[in-house]
Amino acid sequence: MRITFINSLFIGFILLQNCNSPETNMSATDQRVEDLLKQMTLEEKIGQLNLYNGTWDVTGPAPAEGDSKEKYDNIKKGLVGGMLNILTAEATREAQELAVENSRLGIPLIFGYDVVHGYKTMAPIPLAQAASWDPEVARKSNEVAALEASSAGVHWSYAPMIDVTRDPRWGRMMESPGEDPYLASRFAEAWVDGFQGEDLANPHTLAACAKHFAGYGFVEAGRDYNSADISLQTLYNISLPPFKAAAKAGVATVMNSFNEIAGVPATGSELLQRDLLKGDWEFSGFVVSDWASVGEMITHGFAGDDAEAAYKALKAGSDMDMEARVYERALGKVINDGQLDVSLVDDAVRRILKVKFDLGLFDDPYLYCDSEKEQNNLLTPDNLAASRDAAKKSIVLLKNKNNLLPLKKSGSIAVIGSLAESKDIPLGSWRAQAVTNSAVSLLEGIQSAVGTNAQVNYTPGYTLTEGLRSFTTELNIVTEDKSGFAKAIALAKSSDVVILAMGEDCWQTGEGRSQTSINLKGSQEDLLKELLKVNPNVVITLMNGRSLAIPYLAENAPAILEVWHLGSEAGNAIADVLFGDYNPSGKLPVSFPRNLGQVPIYYNHKNGGRPVPDGGNTVFWSHYTDAPNTPLFPFGYGLSYTNFEYSDFKLSKNQMSASETITVSVMVKNSGSVDGEEVVQFYIRDHVGSVTRPVKELKGFQKILLKAGEVRTLKFEISQETLSYYRLDLTFGTEPGDYTAMVGGNSEQVLSAGFELR
Ligand code: BGC
Repeated sequence: MRITFINSLFIGFILLQNCNSPETNMSATDQRVEDLLKQMTLEEKIGQLNLYNGTWDVTGPAPAEGDSKEKYDNIKKGLVGGMLNILTAEATREAQELAVENSRLGIPLIFGYDVVHGYKTMAPIPLAQAASWDPEVARKSNEVAALEASSAGVHWSYAPMIDVTRDPRWGRMMESPGEDPYLASRFAEAWVDGFQGEDLANPHTLAACAKHFAGYGFVEAGRDYNSADISLQTLYNISLPPFKAAAKAGVATVMNSFNEIAGVPATGSELLQRDLLKGDWEFSGFVVSDWASVGEMITHGFAGDDAEAAYKALKAGSDMDMEARVYERALGKVINDGQLDVSLVDDAVRRILKVKFDLGLFDDPYLYCDSEKEQNNLLTPDNLAASRDAAKKSIVLLKNKNNLLPLKKSGSIAVIGSLAESKDIPLGSWRAQAVTNSAVSLLEGIQSAVGTNAQVNYTPGYTLTEGLRSFTTELNIVTEDKSGFAKAIALAKSSDVVILAMGEDCWQTGEGRSQTSINLKGSQEDLLKELLKVNPNVVITLMNGRSLAIPYLAENAPAILEVWHLGSEAGNAIADVLFGDYNPSGKLPVSFPRNLGQVPIYYNHKNGGRPVPDGGNTVFWSHYTDAPNTPLFPFGYGLSYTNFEYSDFKLSKNQMSASETITVSVMVKNSGSVDGEEVVQFYIRDHVGSVTRPVKELKGFQKILLKAGEVRTLKFEISQETLSYYRLDLTFGTEPGDYTAMVGGNSEQVLSAGFELR
């Protein structure tokens, strides 16, 4: 049955739309929210705070079997605010009908889903997108994802994930924009913009959800769901900036996180949610808990029972309870007993209703339930083209000895490594509704790039995993298998060049998939050693969702392309770069350690008291005895098929007051013979502070295309904003003193000059 009846309330609301209330300065939407709120019982209000899982995906402990009937009845009674994991225009229409046509007030449900890097058409994993250093890649990828997901009935995406992280053991590094708060902030804005566009009521946009608030990227030892114990300065200056940027960009919702920080679970943190986010940052959207995190406060040992968990979570500012059903069970009693004022419930309900109004759901609850659109908007040639464009821009060239790359589309090419034939692994581990095995494999990409001009032969060489591979099963990694070596060695010997795919299965990464080792698994490296004995021209394509420790590759393989998990068009995009149809332009958004023992390793570290050996003292300084302090590849690093030279680094003056600015300029020349893009990075160092400052902090970047031989002068501005940070007293501002400005093509190789803030 399609809609036959629109609750008379809607008509009233439609009439009110777009006029300001005569009595107050309230916007028309706010007025509509207030009018509705007045009609709601406490039970119905608490219902709006209740987010149920649907039947599609389970991303946490599964709800008890057979509870769907109860859930459906509750929707009809108006006791549910939204659902997650319910998909397709048809199914969302059916669920929406339950609410709109049966409940007393006919309040529409909001439907959420993890649209993390695409819906059907997969974009590169977020970490890879960040490697493009091109926020337009992020914006466009989410615009496509929004078009697809909204056409399948989804209103609300649980993304962007903007947890800054320094720990590759953590499986969720693949979802994150990496180790730097500035880069993450620019990507946060672009991701939000891509989802939300100009107008949330446009049925091709989604409400975004910045997650996980906050500190989740710092889970101890990289183990998922673990505690985070970081200083307030690290929280404010490293974890929070992307969230502040997302809030400023108008993100509609924020998701809190599973972890505790300094003994307080994020879900119960008033400091984070009420004081900072809703207070200082004036965030007007709503906060959703992470899956069951309201209830998990009991397991954390922060609440004794449901009532205490409900009390603490709502008081702290967690507006919507995702699948813990603690608000449903206990919040009514907490309010009726007078432990919390109902105004807190009202505030949460207001925020949720406002987003529903902004999405246009009160004007047409079925706005997003259009099966025809769903048929037409998924996996279109345009969507795939955007994915390929994003993918090629996300690839990072790590090594290219004697310009082995780009390859010629001729001769004999050996493609080796089981990852090369996978049509599934490139889809990544937050793959939403991507069809299994639907990506263009590396092998297919190479074959279609060279056509009949070159002879392409493939053999798997090693086996990486065996058995079931899926979102909800543990992966079985094959550790010792050399049965395919002989064939691979013979093929390498008889070929002009070898393309060896190495790396990780996508199911080694993602939620719940932390690892204690970041080395290449199985027999991959042993195979590489054998291949190098018979053919020196080995190009590695490294598919992975985290920074890996690859010292042997870095030392011995002549060429390495970091290709991450690049999504639906992975193979085509990698071939674009391998054969020089696209000149690689990505730069690392995370440092690559030499070994796990260096972790956490990140470019914006502190100087410490003993950073270098002092005179004859070779022991008592901050270092390891078995490895250097430096990473294998630093943050911001990436090569091109051309070279860029930096010169004429100048500051417009060497002193400024807080109200003044200094212009930094640098000349960048493409000194090679092909056109190429360079990411010009601008860093500063604040030498002395009320708290110690990092040795370097990214403060700007520009990605530019320079023709072969072209020279361009680039400018960056240093203002009070550039130099502000959360100081000892946690106020945001500057401190006078000496600074260094630096510009370069990565975080280690920079030109620099000093200046003073008076
Ligand atoms: C994850 C969130 C996700 C949610 C809903 C949780 O387990 O931490 O990132 O949005 O599930 O799927």
